[in-house]
Amino acid sequence: MPLFNMFSVFIILVIFAAFDRGCWAINYTFPDNFLFGTATSSYQIEGAWNESGKGENTWDWYTHNYPERILDRTNGDIACDSYHKYEEDIKLLKELGVDFYRFSLSWTRIFPSGFPNNVNYEGINYYNKILNLLAANNITAMVTLFHWDLPQRLMELGGLTNPRFIAFYTEYARTAFEFFGDRVKYWLTFNEPFQTCMFSYGDTRLAPALGMSGIADYLCGHNLLKAHAAAYHLYNTTYRSKYEGKIAISISAEWFEPNNTYDEAAADRVRQFWYGIHMHPIFSSEGDYPEVVKEYIATQSSLEGYKRSRLPQFTPDEINYIKGTSDFMGLNHYNTYLATNASSTSLETSYYNDIQASYWLSSSNMEDSDTARIVPWGFRKLLVWVKNTFNDPEIFVTENGYYDFGDIDDRGRISFYGQYLEALLEAIYIDNVKVIAYTAWTLMDNFEWNLGYEYKYGIYYVNFTDPDRPRIPKSSAYFIKNVIGNRTVVSYDRVV
Ligand SMILES: *[C@@H]1O[C@H](CO)[C@@H](O)[C@H](O)[C@H]1NC(C)=O
Ligand SMILES: *[C@@H]1O[C@H](CO)[C@@H](O)[C@H](O)[C@H]1NC(C)=O
Ligand SMILES: *[C@@H]1O[C@H](CO)[C@@H](O)[C@H](O)[C@H]1NC(C)=O
Ligand SMILES: *[C@@H]1O[C@H](CO)[C@@H](O)[C@H](O)[C@H]1NC(C)=O
Ligand SMILES: *[C@@H]1O[C@H](CO)[C@@H](O)[C@H](O)[C@H]1NC(C)=O
Ligand SMILES: *[C@@H]1O[C@H](CO)[C@@H](O)[C@H](O)[C@H]1NC(C)=O
Ligand SMILES: *[C@@H]1O[C@H](CO)[C@@H](O)[C@H](O)[C@H]1NC(C)=O
Ligand SMILES: *[C@@H]1O[C@H](CO)[C@@H](O)[C@H](O)[C@H]1NC(C)=O
Repeated sequence: MPLFNMFSVFIILVIFAAFDRGCWAINYTFPDNFLFGTATSSYQIEGAWNESGKGENTWDWYTHNYPERILDRTNGDIACDSYHKYEEDIKLLKELGVDFYRFSLSWTRIFPSGFPNNVNYEGINYYNKILNLLAANNITAMVTLFHWDLPQRLMELGGLTNPRFIAFYTEYARTAFEFFGDRVKYWLTFNEPFQTCMFSYGDTRLAPALGMSGIADYLCGHNLLKAHAAAYHLYNTTYRSKYEGKIAISISAEWFEPNNTYDEAAADRVRQFWYGIHMHPIFSSEGDYPEVVKEYIATQSSLEGYKRSRLPQFTPDEINYIKGTSDFMGLNHYNTYLATNASSTSLETSYYNDIQASYWLSSSNMEDSDTARIVPWGFRKLLVWVKNTFNDPEIFVTENGYYDFGDIDDRGRISFYGQYLEALLEAIYIDNVKVIAYTAWTLMDNFEWNLGYEYKYGIYYVNFTDPDRPRIPKSSAYFIKNVIGNRTVVSYDRVV
């Protein structure tokens, strides 16, 4: 074969190889300092709900009083029993070869009443044991201060809608920094402001299910942002020089794609209402809520007969106090939705009417099957949007994952992780997004809030009918281990 032709064949082969990988040939090796981890949260895994001095939190209260609101009428009383099995959990992390482990503190294990007096040293001791064992295994600790299990007594005072929450939260944060700061490299102040406020105070999806949409959710978000900033400043002024850790917030962001080109403004409005509302005050150079959010809520409030906007206002001092208070952006991502402009004429007060848009899961296969919900390009677009909207922040992916109903050979999950990790690498290498870390949600099957134990996100299977709660690696655990070990997306079957 003449040289020229051989060369053409070579080029064609390279092109085919590149397309086979879903795009032009990029190096699918993770950058040298890129970090991998998995995540959990206290209420979802610990169990021991009333042991060793722990007080009652909103999830204890909710699941005990309204079992019918949980899909399978279960609760987190025992969950994965990690309160007793943390050593085994850390073995799993070691086996996976992760760089870090993200877990959360149970507020009422540390302050049983919720109020910041009378520290429960058994609670402190439990987290000390975890932090020491992680350190002994060279696993960096990433600690979430608040992952939804609010002290029930604070809830009775209005929870996050009470401005006094900020002071209680700050004292709780100070206690955590004091006791654990020497061993915690990454702090997360709050997990998912959107779910915390819109699903718990606005909707009735998560505890305590207040259902005061358009009012309680905005009050919650307002105080959450101030409490976040207070904890950030406390750490920045008092603990950072000693411990050299980082502190940030973890915001859940789904991708909203316009259903048609003329829906771009509507899709962006949904993004701003979902996460711009919490990102913009912290990450934009001007601070405060996004203009479109302020404008739509003010207009709708007025149509509904309110004399002032239902969205609380920040003072100029507060805007400055909140601006810039996150060392990186923690990002949780799961799904892609389509969005369209939908003007609602309803005058019922509701977050959803404020948006004047509607959205739905983009997957053409909306059934709960293994192959639904895998939209990696949505993840990549989200990363690019965050880069462009907020001055190119460092992004730490603090959650990404996939549910199924319990397969140990979980090929759907592997297909999800493989494609999302490739999309992430494309964002790094092609779009120059500064993604510094990736966290798989979740280490093991656990209590998935209102969905009970039926929806499983774990890369380890937990047998909840066995009192010992044995953990069994799923196929995805081996996949993640191989990705980490090879620092590249090792080959996998796309089942979609
Ligand atoms: C891919 O990137 C990694 C990390 O930057 C580097 O070590 C490796 O040599 C690269 N491989 C190729 C084929 O370019
Ligand atoms: C803890 O709760 C369990 C039910 O989950 C109950 O059987 C047990 O008596 C309680 N223990 C204490 C010390 O209250
Ligand atoms: C942890 O890392 C240190 C320094 O890199 C090393 O000496 C030690 O053997 C490691 N320990 C474990 C348990 O991997
Ligand atoms: C979404 O776009 C498709 C294609 O243009 C259209 O058929 C459909 O009606 C749109 N859906 C909504 C809810 O606007
Ligand atoms: C954090 O502290 C440093 C050093 O004191 C200061 O320069 C910086 O402005 C502080 N960050 C914020 C967001 O206040
Ligand atoms: C959205 O819909 C409303 C009501 O139908 C309309 O007034 C508005 O112009 C639409 N906006 C866009 C950008 O299409
Ligand atoms: C779970 O545990 C029960 C009770 O010990 C046992 O019968 C069952 O086989 C276990 N299931 C799996 C998948 O290991
Ligand atoms: C790399 O991945 C392969 C499977 O693709 C696996 O057999 C091997 O053990 C992995 N290597 C490391 C260092 O993890």
